Amino acid sequence: MIQISPSILSADFSKLAQEVAAVETGGAQMLHIDVMDGHFVPNISFGACVVASLRPVTGLLFDVHLMISDPLRYAPSFAKAGADMITFHYESCADPQQTVDAIRQLGCKVGMAIKPGTDVSVLDPFLPQLDMALVMTVEPGFGGQKFMPEMMPKVGYLRQWAQAHDSKLWIQVDGGIDRNTARTAAQAGADVLVAGSAVFGAADRGEAIAQICASAAEGWKAV
Ligand code: DX5
Ligand code: ZN
Repeated sequence: MIQISPSILSADFSKLAQEVAAVETGGAQMLHIDVMDGHFVPNISFGACVVASLRPVTGLLFDVHLMISDPLRYAPSFAKAGADMITFHYESCADPQQTVDAIRQLGCKVGMAIKPGTDVSVLDPFLPQLDMALVMTVEPGFGGQKFMPEMMPKVGYLRQWAQAHDSKLWIQVDGGIDRNTARTAAQAGADVLVAGSAVFGAADRGEAIAQICASAAEGWKAV
């Protein structure tokens, strides 16, 4: 099943609760929460207090994407704030295994992300332990960038692994997803699609989600 995870990075922060309600009623399954520290990526977004403020206003699964150095240090505060899943970058920490274990210990689902320049095979030792693998289809840091189709072989590799191991691993793509690229990503084997500007830049959030979902479902038939 295809799941859409709208990224609030592109939402209007002056009315975040209404923005979240719009995507929840619009058919999203998750809420993608992009945390940036100005160090691991060249941009700063928001921290755990924003997650805690949103927790009581929605039932959406909180898909927290940590684009920060030292995720091990900050994971507990995001878990406490209400994260359901914490995804961190392979490139961001010295000991990814320790970070996987710590997030699991906190009672959250665990995701691991790779930047465009990182080989997908670095995920191999972790795949059996992950709930989700995230293939970045832009350089992390900003919304509204162009989708990189050359990342699709990574998605295909992960889908093949999941099929070969009868695994329920979610395969997420993040960056430049709209109704056209959603088809490409789903066809390659992605089943969780992050969309920021394509959802929050549309006048009707629900319609945008429905369109992305429909074209992904078309692509998915070919998997
Ligand atoms: C980029 C973030 C993305 C971003 C996606 O660093 O991780 O989640 O919000 O935005 P769009 O969908 O506009 O590319
Ligand atoms: Zn993200």
